[in-house]
Amino acid sequence: MEFRDQVIRVLAEVLGDKLSAEKIKQVLEKPKDLALGDYAFPAFLLAKTLHKAPQQIAAEIVQKINQEHFEKIQAVGPYVNFFMDKSQASAAVISTVLRQQFSYGDQDLGKGGNVPIDMSSPNIAKPISMGHLRSTVIGNSLAKLLKKVNYHPIKINHLGDWGTQFGKLIEAYKLWGSEEEVKADPINKLLEYYVRFHKEDVAHPELDEKARGWFKKLEDGDEEAIRLWKWFRSESLKSFMKIYEKLGVEFDSFNGEAFYNDKMAEIVSILEKRDLLKESRGAQIVDLDKYDLNPALIRKTDGATLYITRDLAAALYRKRTYNFVQSLYVVGNEQTNHFKQLKAVLKEMGEPWSDDIHHIPFGLITQDGKKLSTRAGRVILLDEVLDDAVQLARKQIEAKNPNLENKEQVAKEVGVGAVIFHDLKNERMNNFDFNLEEVVRFEGETGPYVQYSHARAMSILRKAKEEGHVLNEQENYSLNDPESWEVITEIAAFPKMVKRAVVEYEPSVIAKYGLHLAKAFNKYYAHSKVLKDDEQLYARLALVKSVATVLKESLNLLGVHAPDKM
Ligand code: ARG
Repeated sequence: MEFRDQVIRVLAEVLGDKLSAEKIKQVLEKPKDLALGDYAFPAFLLAKTLHKAPQQIAAEIVQKINQEHFEKIQAVGPYVNFFMDKSQASAAVISTVLRQQFSYGDQDLGKGGNVPIDMSSPNIAKPISMGHLRSTVIGNSLAKLLKKVNYHPIKINHLGDWGTQFGKLIEAYKLWGSEEEVKADPINKLLEYYVRFHKEDVAHPELDEKARGWFKKLEDGDEEAIRLWKWFRSESLKSFMKIYEKLGVEFDSFNGEAFYNDKMAEIVSILEKRDLLKESRGAQIVDLDKYDLNPALIRKTDGATLYITRDLAAALYRKRTYNFVQSLYVVGNEQTNHFKQLKAVLKEMGEPWSDDIHHIPFGLITQDGKKLSTRAGRVILLDEVLDDAVQLARKQIEAKNPNLENKEQVAKEVGVGAVIFHDLKNERMNNFDFNLEEVVRFEGETGPYVQYSHARAMSILRKAKEEGHVLNEQENYSLNDPESWEVITEIAAFPKMVKRAVVEYEPSVIAKYGLHLAKAFNKYYAHSKVLKDDEQLYARLALVKSVATVLKESLNLLGVHAPDKM
């Protein structure tokens, strides 16, 4: 329904094999001056092909073209100018949104196919990092987007809950830890023991020996080792859950690395059967030379399996369990090589579905342009960030709207929403800087700005209702002024934006879209007296209602709440 597509379609009909729709799309212009139409086609581009004067070509196009949905189509010199029939188009767009409400933009790209999304996946006994935040919010938004186009997303938290570090942690706990300490502040205490271990093992290399021993015990199912590991895991998970609750993110599975312990033998045996395992200095590897990749290390000298071995087992398990049409891994850019290796080994194993595995990488969050680093003191603790953001939001709400009901709830929705939105408005591969004051501003390119625009639209509708104006579906909602046209154009583009966001795995498309729509709406609102009692009052109210609906749905697709009042 997008207007630009309508123009491309009618042009493609007359131009046939002279110019493809794709090419028309590239050259179609949007004149600055509205007197030259909503779109303009530069007919002179065909002069060479057709051996005709540009003016003549433009005139001939106008003669042949289907003018049905247009107010007029005019040849002006070497250009064909298209004027949309704004009354007709606005009525069509508005009534579609009023009828479909939050299902506006739904489409069937997925045919119900399963898509596991590996997302968040923090490591036990360590704080959730800003990188894990990115994975969490990008994954969550992708899940919502995929659902909107009729895929069936399955959100999997592939917890980092196995590996040699747990041997170290157990040894450190046995030496310096206490149960009460861990219970009081699990993540920080466990991290503290772990860090201390790394300091002390420099002078006391025998610690490493002990740690290896504990990990071996863990892998062999030793009772004490398992008990401690389970306890560390559940304490850590509890504190992760608090953050997920704040973010409003839920998971369908918490099968982490440990879940695959009994599923790796099969991987090793498949690799052996296919003669893919090679010895290299006592370790077992799969050679990936023909993929231009380093060999994948499957088993260490001491028989221990690795991160990639567990990922191989997980990939196979997911294929069998979900029979997925795509399998996504929302994991930082720095693991690109790992996922290339994963896909390559699966391919070597003869699994054709390895092509349906997609690593969805993302860039870093920086502070003052620099990489975050614990050592340099540039750490951002997610839990604190969320609380500080809520605090800042609360302050601004207090100043703007001191009598607001539900202030605490709204402050949470705005503060947390601001952090999520800021993350998602950046194209995922870009690195971006984190500055809390920027993030929670009510003006500019922020989440609160979009939320505020939505709340403003809702307040207009409330006022109208108080004055006795209630929308009904039968009405003809046509508008033809230039300010509303900008808003209509944005609303009409929404379904296409949803599709683009899905195809590119790029929630930023929707975040940017929300900003554009909010901007167009605020401009409209500044120019027009919406509540003036004239014959277009209901059309304007219907437009406002459409804006509120699409803004709310856009925020929802990002995992951000849209309070009705703020
Ligand atoms: N726990 C890993 C980390 O924090 C991320 C795991 C990503 N998922 C996967 N299936 N490898 O770096």
